[in-house]
Amino acid sequence: MTEATLYERLSVGEKIRAFVTDTFTMGRCILGSLCAVTAVAVLLLTGPAAAEEKSPAAAEEKSPAAAEEKSLYERLGGVYPIAATVDDLVDRLYVNGTLNANPAVKAVHDRQGQAGFKVMVTNWVVEHTGGPKNYSGLPLDKAHAHLNITNREFDVVMNECATTFYKFNVPKKEMDDLMALLESYRSQVVTAVTAK
Ligand code: HEM
Repeated sequence: MTEATLYERLSVGEKIRAFVTDTFTMGRCILGSLCAVTAVAVLLLTGPAAAEEKSPAAAEEKSPAAAEEKSLYERLGGVYPIAATVDDLVDRLYVNGTLNANPAVKAVHDRQGQAGFKVMVTNWVVEHTGGPKNYSGLPLDKAHAHLNITNREFDVVMNECATTFYKFNVPKKEMDDLMALLESYRSQVVTAVTAK
């Protein structure tokens, strides 16, 4: 049996996150700093297997044309702006009355795990827009399987996303690309048996 990593012994990043949160209590880029430092801590603690994913070999596999094209992650400005938008979005989702009318969603919100949730969603966006592969959570179908989410609730979240993207002046092309990316996961997230 292989020995558990320090990351695992620290309860999957919760304590790392708590440490980082304590360290960064001031400044405009709190969540960006939190995510960047958390990602570094996770990488260091999980060892060479995670580091291999960042090997430049992956970039060399791209065709020259693809390599020249900037990823959505790059066009969004990287982890700091992404983390700032997730920070804003999640704060509003947690107090959204329509979403909290769903008991399974409310139960999660009542646990008050916003900080860790923001890290998860930030890393998911980073990875799925072409940034570093840091996402350590469940695939979206498994993450939402127990939540009984309706199409209407998905629409509410999309609406809140759009509000955040406007607030942060995300350019039209990048906003369209982001909204299309999120929309493509609708069938994995909407798990309600009957449409409400
Ligand atoms: C494309 C849209 C969505 C994306 C990209 C997304 C992303 C995520 C991610 C990355 C996680 C963390 C999974 C993990 O910790 O393993 C998560 C969990 C969660 N999501 Fe979503 N989500 C989306 C739509 C929604 C919608 C529409 C709702 C409805 C309110 C929702 C509510 C939740 C809740 C409550 C959790 C926590 C589940 C738990 O800890 O038991 N999500 N989501």
